[in-house]
Amino acid sequence: MARILATGIATLDIINEVASYPEEDAEVRALSQRIRRGGNASNTLCVLSQLGHQSYLAATLINEADGQVIEADLNRYHINTQFCPRLNEGKMPTSYITLNRQTGSRTIVHHRDCPELSFAAFQHIDLSQIDWLHFEARNISELQKILKYCRQKAPNVPISLEIEKPREDIESLFDWADWLFFSSQYAEARGFQSAEDMLASLPVTYQATLTWGAEGAYGWHNGKVMYIPATKIDHVVDTLGAGDTFNAGMIHSLVAENSLQDSLQFASELAARKCQQYGFENLV
Ligand code: FRU
Repeated sequence: MARILATGIATLDIINEVASYPEEDAEVRALSQRIRRGGNASNTLCVLSQLGHQSYLAATLINEADGQVIEADLNRYHINTQFCPRLNEGKMPTSYITLNRQTGSRTIVHHRDCPELSFAAFQHIDLSQIDWLHFEARNISELQKILKYCRQKAPNVPISLEIEKPREDIESLFDWADWLFFSSQYAEARGFQSAEDMLASLPVTYQATLTWGAEGAYGWHNGKVMYIPATKIDHVVDTLGAGDTFNAGMIHSLVAENSLQDSLQFASELAARKCQQYGFENLV
């Protein structure tokens, strides 16, 4: 069991499941609707909690009705919220998600009116209680300060950084992390045609993973690319949060000091299991 702190956002996810992805300007009826807590960091923690770790979230929470739904779910998964700044104004970030029953693909329209976690708020956290630090790469200028601070205050605590979307200056964060968890969305946006090309462009001192959808997952260690084919799935039901689950699997396995190869395998299998069910309930 490790004490893991993740920073990022917590969201309300409104998920409409449809028979197939609608045409623009069409009116279609949803087959089902689910309203859930979401957000990459909180999804990752929800899986880590199930894997037996003590999970701490650092994300802005707002005292409003949706904030209460989100917090109740965080509590249900025993995710500690003592480091979350609480505001009385604003609205929790909300994602409107179209889940395609045919393919399990999830299309997200995200709305936010909620301040990001600040360096000032982060400084209140007692890092001596933490064994692993995980960050969503967002809010870049504040995160630069946070990462530098972590390195000073807790030099021996491993840091993983999730790089999902391209953002201005995001690369300035890479040197601070022990592990970089990249998505194919980032690699493609940076113009790479293949996972190998993207990873081979990194310095040999970096350690990284890169998920490549139905193809599988890749790793980068000691200047070498590793590849794990995707676990075969009969029927994809729900891919929402599959990447967050993969990251949880990586952290769980790396905390146990398993090799990158074994960690990629474990994380891929866990993500595949997630894709075969709705949400994260009883994933482990
Ligand atoms: C899934 C997810 C959703 C959330 C969105 C935020 O990875 O975390 O739960 O609404 O992405 O970008």
